[in-house]
Amino acid sequence: MTGYTPVPDAEPFRIKMVEPIRWTTREEREGLLEEAGYNLFLVPAEAVYIDLLTDSGTSAMSDAQWAGLMRGDEAYAGSRSFYRLREVIRGLLGFEHVLPTHQGRGAEHVLFSTILKPGQLVLNNMHFDTTLAHVQHRGGIAQDLAIAQAYDPTSAHPFKGDFDLSRLERALKEHGPAKIALVMATVTCNSGGGQPVSLANLRQAAALARSHGVRFFLDACRFAENAYFIHEREPGWTGRPVREVVRAMMDVADGCTMSGKKDALVNIGGFLAMRDPALYRQATVWAVLFEGFPTYGGLAGRDLEAMARGLEEVVDEEYLRHRLGQVRYLADRLRDAGVPLMEPPGGHAVYLDARRFLPHLDAEQLPGQTLAVEIYREGGVRTVEIGTVLAGRDPATGANRHPELELVRLAIPRRVYTDRHLEWVAASVIRVYGRRTAMRGMTMTEEPPVLRHFTARFRPIA
Ligand code: F0G
Repeated sequence: MTGYTPVPDAEPFRIKMVEPIRWTTREEREGLLEEAGYNLFLVPAEAVYIDLLTDSGTSAMSDAQWAGLMRGDEAYAGSRSFYRLREVIRGLLGFEHVLPTHQGRGAEHVLFSTILKPGQLVLNNMHFDTTLAHVQHRGGIAQDLAIAQAYDPTSAHPFKGDFDLSRLERALKEHGPAKIALVMATVTCNSGGGQPVSLANLRQAAALARSHGVRFFLDACRFAENAYFIHEREPGWTGRPVREVVRAMMDVADGCTMSGKKDALVNIGGFLAMRDPALYRQATVWAVLFEGFPTYGGLAGRDLEAMARGLEEVVDEEYLRHRLGQVRYLADRLRDAGVPLMEPPGGHAVYLDARRFLPHLDAEQLPGQTLAVEIYREGGVRTVEIGTVLAGRDPATGANRHPELELVRLAIPRRVYTDRHLEWVAASVIRVYGRRTAMRGMTMTEEPPVLRHFTARFRPIA
């Protein structure tokens, strides 16, 4: 075998179990779209050929994780599976205290109930929707402080998730620890396109928070993907072992929230982890109330076991090379055909820039929604709008909010689809691109007052 080099980015796994997916005809999809009010959340998953709605809870588990389900200890208190999970988190992330939660937002609920008082601020590079909602639910004020390049889809900045450190410093100086409950870094920055945060920036942001007496947490959902970008791109860190990078990222933080549905490679689960024993004791009170006894937190013992094993697997460098390579592969196919993307591609998803894709539509004609619907109609591929529909209305004026980015996200589930599937995705998007000038936009016909994107109904503009 001398001279043999493996195909770069080839799958470092083989497939032991398969799940059939169903092809639909264009006529079927037309009918389904009409029934669903042109809202892809309302299309049955069985009628989706390739589902890129989210990378959350959609991972394929490994044989070791499935075996772990059988080994789960279902004790109400002090389950062996909990101790195992805690050991993995202590070893990998370095946080002493661990509270399992049913998913990421459960961890947010417990954390903000513990540390946030009404009127206080939370500073983040960019809040994810559930994080924002939990801050507001506690009467807090959320501020996004990512660098300006984060809002420019054409900028190829390697770490678009970075904090704007001068704005962060200004906010810390102006408001101080009495008014600021927390500084949080979302890694990778989902709302900004799955973009990584550099270690240098994390360190500086954490140091600023600390020097002003404010806690620093990570929203660690996609911590391993972030670490791999650092391993690939960051001067001084290129080629360093991913586990070392992960530890360096965590070392600057007082704790983290985690959705296991992303980088713990499970279908359900999450946790809140921290160093401070006093904070842990306070958080435990809320954890018991919202999630369950502190050693199970809304999960079955088997879920804890699967999450422990997933956290070990996700930092495997062969896995991460394939993972990020696959996302890049899809982006390359699309870019080669001239499709406007959010650059550079993120860790978990490729984002289409709907504003440049459909420049003849204005925001009120819902270009992102129009594009997502067309891609499903064309190829049975489900994506999600991250634009005007998701942004909702300003509660004061009632007018549509106009977000800085109008995107369609193609989130890639982990270990689920092959490159051939992604070729189909690319071909479908490219065909839609070829007939883009014929698209007339959509209008909303039914609009729920909150979280409208899940249940709103639309019709095409004639
Ligand atoms: N933080 C980030 C950055 C997320 O992307 C998510 C979920 C959460 C927190 C909440 O975690 O869903 O387990 O409660 N993101 C999913 C997505 C829903 O599709 O991007 P959860």
